[in-house]
Amino acid sequence: MLNGKKIVLGVSGGIAAYKAVEIVSRLKKAGAVVQVIMTEAATQFVSALTFREMSGNPVAVAMWSEIKHWNVEHIALAKWADLFLIAPATANIIGKIANGIADDTLSTTVMATKAPVIIAPAMNTEMYVNPIVQENISKLAGLGYRFIEPASGMLACGVEGQGRLPEPSAIVEYICQTFAPFTINASIPCDFSDKKFLITAGGTREPIDPVRYIGNHSSGKMGYALAAAAAARGGRVTLISAPTKLSVPEHVSVKYIETAAEMRQAVLAEYPDADIVIKAAAVADYKPKTVQLQKIKKNDDTLTLVLEKNPDILKELGQLKQNQFLVGFAAETESLIQNATDKLNKKNLDMIIANDVTKPGAGFDYDTNTVKILYRDGLKEEFLQMTKIQLAHVILDKIRVKLKK
Ligand code: CTP
Repeated sequence: MLNGKKIVLGVSGGIAAYKAVEIVSRLKKAGAVVQVIMTEAATQFVSALTFREMSGNPVAVAMWSEIKHWNVEHIALAKWADLFLIAPATANIIGKIANGIADDTLSTTVMATKAPVIIAPAMNTEMYVNPIVQENISKLAGLGYRFIEPASGMLACGVEGQGRLPEPSAIVEYICQTFAPFTINASIPCDFSDKKFLITAGGTREPIDPVRYIGNHSSGKMGYALAAAAAARGGRVTLISAPTKLSVPEHVSVKYIETAAEMRQAVLAEYPDADIVIKAAAVADYKPKTVQLQKIKKNDDTLTLVLEKNPDILKELGQLKQNQFLVGFAAETESLIQNATDKLNKKNLDMIIANDVTKPGAGFDYDTNTVKILYRDGLKEEFLQMTKIQLAHVILDKIRVKLKK
């Protein structure tokens, strides 16, 4: 699954560093090429030689030692990586990255990379729940860094709690998932197994006559990525989909519709049972007042279509809301924050994902998106460009945080 993927594994100084050896082995078995960077502290737990043998590549440790393979090592590795994994990540390395400190090979390389960075924290429970550590994690998550939540159990320090590095197999499956978005993998954190999702995707079509319709440029990729991510994380997912070219992610139950009216009917039928509702669909705001039964002939030089307003489905859901967590999207071409805030309030949403569709690499039909997330309490978070599947996981991470409060 990882054939030819270039992965930099950062190992920081915790007792779980020994598990990183197995991570290298599994990544290589999956076809990846792995380069390891260790912090000085990590070398106290496992020797650089072990990682060199396992990865088949030189291991970068100290900033100032003579390294034969890399000229300016941190820049070279930062550019080389398709993906950056830090496992185990100590409170120290998380704190450094979150606060822009670059004082060793690992922290400088992470700062210089444009590759997606996945961080797997492992530490004592009290350290993990420390508000400073949590704030650093939130800050990084807000900037698009992805976190693999630590597992719970007996820790090396003798106490029971959350803080263990998940099993190497689970970490490697998580990595596979980021490269193969719509493949469901059993070991991804199952943090939504008690939740029922209702997700909409694609652009609705409003018929004009038997051969024509009014549509929009929505590809459905964001909604499908959300459905795949939610199902991968254990959620029961119903996807209400307007026509797209996409195949349905595994373990997602889909209902196909074409018009806004059909979407409204399908969504309202599922709404009472849903815990989390995400409306990623681009719904036509207007439809032709009458649909011609025969194909319209081009008799005249001009043709006037009279349109009438479609129901605003999300607004209706906001009015009917009981315990559902309601998430909307705002695709804007101007006044992004103002328009998104108005929609959040008018439609009684808990969260809105705002994106400026005029930006390169954002919006319709791209595989990436650059968004801001706005919350009911007025909080706003800004994210760097990321793939739609990564954004789907970030949105789910944010929902999980809000549901816990
Ligand atoms: N939406 C909806 N029903 C509609 C229109 C929009 O459910 N008839 C939902 C979309 O799925 C999205 C959110 O409302 O989650 C915002 O959609 P958007 O098209 O950005 O905004 P509109 O409310 O249609 O306002 P405008 O077109 O004036 O920007």
